[in-house]
Amino acid sequence: MRIAVFSAKPYDRRFLEAAARGTHDFTWIEARLDPSTARLAEGSDAACLFVNDRADAAALEVLAAGGVKLLALRSAGFNHVDLVAAQRLGLAIGRVPAYSPEAVAEHAVALILTLNRNIHRAYNRVREGNFALDGLLGFDLHGRTVGIVGTGQIGTAFARILRGFGCRLLGHDPQENADCIALGLAYRPLEELLAEADIVSVHCPLTPATRHLMDAARLGCMRPGAMLINTSRGAILDTAAVIRALKSGRLGHLGLDVYEEEEKLFFEDLSGTVIADDVFARLLTFPNVLITGHQGFFTEEAMRAIADTTLANVARFAEMGQPLHPVA
Ligand code: NAI
Repeated sequence: MRIAVFSAKPYDRRFLEAAARGTHDFTWIEARLDPSTARLAEGSDAACLFVNDRADAAALEVLAAGGVKLLALRSAGFNHVDLVAAQRLGLAIGRVPAYSPEAVAEHAVALILTLNRNIHRAYNRVREGNFALDGLLGFDLHGRTVGIVGTGQIGTAFARILRGFGCRLLGHDPQENADCIALGLAYRPLEELLAEADIVSVHCPLTPATRHLMDAARLGCMRPGAMLINTSRGAILDTAAVIRALKSGRLGHLGLDVYEEEEKLFFEDLSGTVIADDVFARLLTFPNVLITGHQGFFTEEAMRAIADTTLANVARFAEMGQPLHPVA
């Protein structure tokens, strides 16, 4: 198949080429998909997309007119694809439902440990010869209550790790998960979970129902000084309300791997440019906020699995007209 890979970074190329072993004809497109770049896929059978590619109706129309029949997503989430437009245009969509839940769960734990023990501040202090401990006080994770919003694959991997730390586990999910219950996790309505947890970690998908799930009212339900971690999708948090909660001291720590407006920032080296997003710039000023640029998935194991599953979707589509893991 001829595959146009959008948002193609050197690491995408490395893992996809290794998985393909010469069986596909790739076009590497550094640009993100949008209505103006979509024509670069002309003549391709599949467009391979990542999370910040804008697969809106206008872009999909150009892709379909250029001969694309399959959208091969290199992600689990598909909130960036206009599903109605894709169906209207007869575009099949394949995704990577699971590549390494542990990769994202472990990253969430890295954010918790860094924020709690102020490793981000200690790192700089020690390099400057400042060995004072003031301001670095943390707390034992052992015995603390952790609330997990979304107990799917990543939430379950996260629960397993936190159980090892000796944490008490609470969960909220419309679908209870027997594996989590077996780990000792107790399900609660969201407001109750928020009121009880010392740490809240979000692992649900972004849907119309979860957009701004963590709004001012829900942030107000959290324990004063609690920690909030989001490695899922930025828009699940109402960022303006989160900033108000940080300023008032209600929110004690914030760890983010995702951000509402991240498509204008993440995955690019913008170190020589002025960041125009004032909300993001404000977030960077808090000492108790730690932000990573959507790197939860970025491990050797996950990248290999993403490449393998993406190409399995393409191969099945070429054979049977449907990807192996279709987006329903
Ligand atoms: P999953 O589909 O296995 O689990 C999601 C869970 O969320 C399901 O159990 C579902 O019932 C639950 N859920 C749905 N609506 C909910 C609500 N209103 N409240 C609470 N729970 C709700 O998905 P998986 O693989 O665990 O991934 C979760 C999310 O993590 C993805 O949707 C994606 O947005 C994000 N992600 C982030 C990555 C990163 O690099 N930071 C990488 C991969 C995924």
